[in-house]
Amino acid sequence: MESFVIEGGARLSGAVGVHGAKNAALPIMAATLLTGGTYVLENVPDLLDIRTMIDILAALGVQVRRQGERLFIDTSTLSSNVVPELLMSQMRSSIFLMGPLVARTGEAVLGYPGGCAIGSRPIDLHIEGLQKLNVNIHEYGGTILCRAPKLKGSTIVLDYPSVGATENIMMAAVLAEGTTRIVNAAREPEIQDLERFLNAMGARVRGAGTHAIVIEGVGALHPVERYRIIPDRIVAGTYLAAAAMTEGDVWIENVIPEHLEAVIDVVHKTGARIDVYADRLHVKGVRPYRAVHKLSTSPHPGFPTDMQPQLVAYLTMAEGTSVVMETVFDGRFRHIPELVKMGANIVVDYHTVVIRGPARLVGARVKATDLRAGASLVMAGLAAEGMTIVDGAHHVDRGYSDLETALCGLGARIERVPMKTLLAQ
Ligand code: UD1
Repeated sequence: MESFVIEGGARLSGAVGVHGAKNAALPIMAATLLTGGTYVLENVPDLLDIRTMIDILAALGVQVRRQGERLFIDTSTLSSNVVPELLMSQMRSSIFLMGPLVARTGEAVLGYPGGCAIGSRPIDLHIEGLQKLNVNIHEYGGTILCRAPKLKGSTIVLDYPSVGATENIMMAAVLAEGTTRIVNAAREPEIQDLERFLNAMGARVRGAGTHAIVIEGVGALHPVERYRIIPDRIVAGTYLAAAAMTEGDVWIENVIPEHLEAVIDVVHKTGARIDVYADRLHVKGVRPYRAVHKLSTSPHPGFPTDMQPQLVAYLTMAEGTSVVMETVFDGRFRHIPELVKMGANIVVDYHTVVIRGPARLVGARVKATDLRAGASLVMAGLAAEGMTIVDGAHHVDRGYSDLETALCGLGARIERVPMKTLLAQ
């Protein structure tokens, strides 16, 4: 177990590059199972979740080799469709394997997925969607058994535009007989990236980025020799908020600005100066900055739930009262008591937080309970007076590759320390 030790107060400055998107890379890695062959994926970040997906693919007989930010994946050696329970429980994205495995082998055996502790995260929409494609699914004793002698296209209306369910259904439908329509599909940029990848494999998918995705099933697919994953919009958004919060002056490079519109808009409204270029952003923080009267997380193109904890950290130091509603996940406020320990004035009322600022944040020992909560505490530590210790660095490692090195490059004083060392002091 490791912790981040942060000496707050440095104004971030300089340039930082954004790595590939975890949430795009994970389903695309799963999609390589759809047909045997050698794939080269570029811009794949070296993160804990990606390593778990590599371990799962390896356990299924797939050969995966990393060279820098490239992954070489050979799925011709696939020898199993049983996903080991232990690996399954480590990451929610393991559920993506259901669609491709059943499409390729006619069967899949999985456990229930794990992942961040951010409220209840059922998989009913995944299961109902695949059932509509003619997959028989039985659940018993924590195991999900899927069988599909023949996948058949269908119209699937999602009750909620779930990102993962949309992706799972897309991956199964590409090899189904006939046409599949996903109504009320999620519109996230990662879904568009998956569509591009599937089409590069010979699939016929259109409509990603809208609420209606149409997939015409094809008889066969082929591997993709080279595919570049999109940049991570949440990592970019985290740097943006951290730069603004520390009154910094930072260039954020390798971004797709359209993917960040909602985040840019909110931080800009607080008073920060943000210049947008083709593939980079220039952020200049100001003090004091303003509160946001009302903000609600919602599916894309709304404000992303994955930026809510970082935005709440940012707003603790804004002048005035901010109100933030979390509408996507029901238990995503575990960063709040930790921010309060650092001096933030925040009250939680069911799905809403009321933040009164500006708070004078002071260093404290706090605990990351999930990935984005961890990022928000690191941000608060950067802006706080004195030393902050954020325990649970492994949560942050699930989504940020070598965060401390990137932040040190911007002048932050942050280091990673084994928790044992800290306990001995
Ligand atoms: C993905 C992202 C995650 C992000 C989330 C919302 C990946 C790997 N992860 O997660 O970082 O926070 O989108 O943008 O891409 N739901 C159901 N039944 C289901 C599926 C989902 O009720 O079968 C609910 C969830 O509990 C949640 C909401 O739908 O309240 C959104 O979940 P979903 O869009 O599926 O998120 P994930 O795909 O898990």
